[in-house]
Amino acid sequence: MGKLINGKEFADNLCKKIATEVTKLKDKSIKPGLAVVRVGEDPASAVYVNMKAKKTEEVGMHSVTKILDENTSQEDLLKIVEELNKDDAINGILVQLPLPKQINEDAVINSINPDKDVDGFHAINTGRLWSNIDSLVPCTPLGCKMLLLNELKDLTGKKAIIVGRSNIVGKPMASLLIGENCTVTVAHSKTKDLEGEVKKSDIVVAAVGVPEMVKGSWIKPGATVIDVGINRIERDGKKKLVGDVEFIEAEKIAGAITPVPGGVGPMTIACLLHNTLIATCRRHNIEVPRLF
Ligand code: GUN
Repeated sequence: MGKLINGKEFADNLCKKIATEVTKLKDKSIKPGLAVVRVGEDPASAVYVNMKAKKTEEVGMHSVTKILDENTSQEDLLKIVEELNKDDAINGILVQLPLPKQINEDAVINSINPDKDVDGFHAINTGRLWSNIDSLVPCTPLGCKMLLLNELKDLTGKKAIIVGRSNIVGKPMASLLIGENCTVTVAHSKTKDLEGEVKKSDIVVAAVGVPEMVKGSWIKPGATVIDVGINRIERDGKKKLVGDVEFIEAEKIAGAITPVPGGVGPMTIACLLHNTLIATCRRHNIEVPRLF
């Protein structure tokens, strides 16, 4: 049986370290501020945004939540982002995705001041990440990297596969793992022989959004498996949360594996607060603490 990677515990510890840093900033009369903007009433987004606000306050940061009507125009949303860009009390801005269809997501993301872009989605931060320049790194892949480093200590020379090529997870994950000296394969819907590719890999990061697509029998014995998927399914008449990996079978073969829930999920918000702390320190020319 593979070891369970406890993302919840790691995230709780990281939040405690962030809270300590926030207290130190208070002595300098600095309070990190995070603004989260939600447009419309997508139920999953509403849950995530509430969780983000609650955790922001728990670590002692200033939290602002803006909830806008489903029919908000792109122009009005851009005005709100511009106000937040100018607001000195705000160090981090996150616009929850997806956005309603009348709004161009890229236009909104790229209107955020890159130094406040705590999602790390701005084209400038993407470029900085791939060029090894200090950037704000997308939260979910950053959380996956923290869990992998904690588990394996050194990733040098490992063969890693990322299943999924999204801008939010797959692509930034590839950059982070290259930075850790892994040999990286990015697989996607057109990949030939996905099973064969996964079977060769010491590290598997599954981020496709398809329930249990990566089969347990594909896992190389002893491999480390990071499951980013959060899929709500119905099985035997019961609602269930499952990842992108067939967990029960994979757990038997893997060296270590993240469960769903309780694996990568809690890391995303912890990394958002981590990024807000970093953005605040950089804004005030304070040395950025290393928390992992
Ligand atoms: N929707 C789902 N995940 C995310 C995320 O990490 N950031 C934002 N802004 N929206 C999301």
